[in-house]
Amino acid sequence: MGRRWREVAAIAVAVTFAAVSVVAVGKRVRKRREWGRVEGIMRELEKECETDVGRLRQVADALAVEMNAGLASEGGSKLKMLLTHVDRLPDGSEKGIYYALDLGGTNFRVLQIRLGGQRSSILTHDVERQPIPRHLMTSTSEELFDFVAAALKTFVENKENADGDVPGSGRELGFTFSFPVKQASVSSGILIRWTKGFAIEDMVGKDVSESLQLALQRKGLDMRIVALVNDSVGTLALGYYHDPDTVAAVIFGTGTNACYIERREAIIKCQGLNTSFGSMVVNLEWGSFWSSHLPRTLYDIELDLDSPNPTEQGFEKMISGMYLGEIARRVILRMAQQSDFLGVVPSKLSTPFILRTPMMAAMHEDESQSLSEVDRILTEILEVPEVHPRIRKLVMKVCDIITRRAARLAAAGIVGILKKIGREGERPLGSRSRPDTTMRRTVVAVEGGLYVSYTTFREYLHEALEEILGEDIVRHVVLQVTEDGSGIGAALVAAAHSSTSVHTQ
Ligand code: BGC
Repeated sequence: MGRRWREVAAIAVAVTFAAVSVVAVGKRVRKRREWGRVEGIMRELEKECETDVGRLRQVADALAVEMNAGLASEGGSKLKMLLTHVDRLPDGSEKGIYYALDLGGTNFRVLQIRLGGQRSSILTHDVERQPIPRHLMTSTSEELFDFVAAALKTFVENKENADGDVPGSGRELGFTFSFPVKQASVSSGILIRWTKGFAIEDMVGKDVSESLQLALQRKGLDMRIVALVNDSVGTLALGYYHDPDTVAAVIFGTGTNACYIERREAIIKCQGLNTSFGSMVVNLEWGSFWSSHLPRTLYDIELDLDSPNPTEQGFEKMISGMYLGEIARRVILRMAQQSDFLGVVPSKLSTPFILRTPMMAAMHEDESQSLSEVDRILTEILEVPEVHPRIRKLVMKVCDIITRRAARLAAAGIVGILKKIGREGERPLGSRSRPDTTMRRTVVAVEGGLYVSYTTFREYLHEALEEILGEDIVRHVVLQVTEDGSGIGAALVAAAHSSTSVHTQ
């Protein structure tokens, strides 16, 4: 090659190299800009989900105020403060065999308990769980109740055959139905509306017990519904059965709710109600609580708009297991749409509710060095191509922000109840009595997979409780997990309200 040609070739190489460098630099700049956008979304999320202790106190105060408003008049608050007519909690003196049917989440359970009449001696209890087929959640009330009645019948027959019990009359049932119900008595009530993805229109406004009783008759099962209870009430009943310092119960599962024991005279809206007892369990239905102090993001607003029950269950949509994974999915989707950090937006990422909360928890709590669980869920569930560890960390952070907010708001909810009943070191709201300076041991029964299985959620909740209440007070507050309380508790309420239960104390 002549000299001139060598020069031309050298220039060409230099130009190509420069062009490649420009492209590479351009790519790097673009990548940095895109990553900056993702980080911007993250910063915004973090800021909007902020729950400093001042805000949590405001939420707790707001809840206590709404509780008073809900007790003062029907419709006086977004909090329903439903009367359960449970004015007797099981005290350990109950005897006999009772059944329960627990319907309200992703599974339903049937169970039997034998009570021996000595405190804390549930002689045996047997549980059978089954998933509720998805199509039944939106079918007709007859189909749903026929399905559960058939399962109950098979369970009862198998039990009686196995135990050699005389089949027949006198069987009594506690029915846990975990939706808002306006009760006319301890054993009957009307469904106000569905939550948690159930939508059986013909059931709204109907008596729940009557519908089940008819289904039992259709199946030829002789059984009387003695108690109709919310899952929170069942949990309180079992908690109280084991520990009479139990004053309230909370559920953190697919949905969320709380109930507590209220003094009869504080329930202003039911003045004149005929009850011989000094107190009654009140079901807050706190899933529908709302306050301007709640830290709401764009993702919450969009989730609500896309839900079958917009403007309802606002607190639940920020806290419960049904929604946390979905909020996280929405954040990751926005990040993917506004940058190319996941490449082409995977179509699975646009599918609502595909990221369930247990998967979110598994990613959040991934302790492996390479974050292999995060990677597995991203690739297997969301069909995201394998991503850089930096992105895996980012996804973990999203889960953290959402779960932390949920757990801290849940803690504020518990404090709101303690405040209402004067168990958080101040004078009970709406009462003239003096502040309780000698804090009594206060037990709150807890149930639900979100609390029991999602360790980080539980830890954040405890941390926030301590922050809000302070060390001195929090020492007296015990969160006690009950197992199968929603079901066993319903059977216990049935026993406590049964005319046949033999009370030995
Ligand atoms: C329902 C409550 C129930 C809670 C927990 C909510 O969606 O409205 O009645 O107690 O879920 O299961």
